[in-house]
Amino acid sequence: MQHHADYASNKTSMKALVFHGPNSLAWEDRPKPKIMNATDAIIRITTTTICGTDLHILKGDVPTVTDGRILGHEGVGIVEEVGTNVLNFRKGDKILVSNITSCGRCSFCKKEMYSHCRTGGWLLGNSIDGTQAEYVRIPLADTGLHMLTPEVDDEAVVMLSCILPTGLECGALSGQVKPGDVVAIVGAGPVGLAALLTAQLYSPADIIMIDIDDHRLEVALSFGATKIVSSSDGRAVERIMALTQGAGVDVAIEAVGLSTTFDICQAIIAPGGRIANVGVHGKSVELHLERLWSSNITLTTRLVDASTTPMLLRMVQSGRLDAKKLVSHRFRLAEIMKAYDTFSNAEKQHALKVVLNNAPPGE
Ligand SMILES: NC(=O)c1ccc[n+]([C@@H]2O[C@H](COP(=O)([O-])OP(=O)(O)OC[C@H]3O[C@@H](n4cnc5c(N)ncnc54)[C@H](O)[C@@H]3O)[C@@H](O)[C@H]2O)c1
Ligand SMILES: [Zn+2]
Ligand SMILES: [Zn+2]
Repeated sequence: MQHHADYASNKTSMKALVFHGPNSLAWEDRPKPKIMNATDAIIRITTTTICGTDLHILKGDVPTVTDGRILGHEGVGIVEEVGTNVLNFRKGDKILVSNITSCGRCSFCKKEMYSHCRTGGWLLGNSIDGTQAEYVRIPLADTGLHMLTPEVDDEAVVMLSCILPTGLECGALSGQVKPGDVVAIVGAGPVGLAALLTAQLYSPADIIMIDIDDHRLEVALSFGATKIVSSSDGRAVERIMALTQGAGVDVAIEAVGLSTTFDICQAIIAPGGRIANVGVHGKSVELHLERLWSSNITLTTRLVDASTTPMLLRMVQSGRLDAKKLVSHRFRLAEIMKAYDTFSNAEKQHALKVVLNNAPPGE
């Protein structure tokens, strides 16, 4: 085992998943990242995964991601090397990578709006190379990494790099889910399911899940949804209005990123309700102010700040939050092209989160 690690650290190249424009990905040799700033750390990735946002990138919905970028903003790994100004971590530490890089000092970080950190934000797998690789360079490592104990389950905690803080912050918290609320979540992908799991921390009376994928809807029921609605025939609004005796819902969480799903949220929101947009949108949507203007609606948008990650980590470690049940498929990192295929065909493959493992045998 030691031998394997030594061999790995002497390598100058690595394998990585590289974006080459819409619908074009390749598993390629790339130079192993090096420390560029004294606040950087180099991480050897042991576990990573694929996000719905990566699928949006692949569709061309995220123009900041350019040809040649290594994708991925989720990961667990081992610190390989740290810059001279990294104080909280050292070689050999097991860590969780956050999708959001932050300095902790700028005006936005002081407001806990880490997603808009002036020197950070969503960089990984977006404007800098990401985690779907054997190694990744993490800037501002002291504030962007979370220490893990060696016995922590990689597969459970990698759900905290993006989807659980996203579901909680952009969904349940932005939507201000309260005891007794009726909540609708449009999209039962990993992010919608993460919103479902975390919304339950606030005791809503009902959570209605909407998707076109019947398998994911069945999973939603087993994760605590009280009602499920298929939108595959375009009649979801009708059904949700019937389920709520014509009243509509108090909170509508959009976790897909399409105009049709945003429209569902606008059509089902009750007076005084909150629409919390989570989905990454590549195209404009029609805002129906002619119907909404008088209904006291709050509309929120949010890029995840990952400010809740330490809290979620405590809940996963204590067993209060079962994050591992979001994992449906496992692959070796080198099989990532197959993993993309599985995640992009989630309905056919019955896929939720697909996990890529790169730990040497026995680690
Ligand atoms: N705001 C943020 O910071 C942030 C962070 C992470 C992810 N996201 C976004 O959250 C969204 C969900 O991510 P995910 O990983 O769950 O993606 P995913 O692609 O796995 O899930 C999307 C789900 O939407 C469903 N869907 C598609 N069309 C539909 C329709 N017409 N009606 C109902 N359901 C429909 C799909 O069947 C699928 O289950 C994506 O847009 C992703 O980019 C946002
Ligand atoms: Zn993500
Ligand atoms: Zn900052």
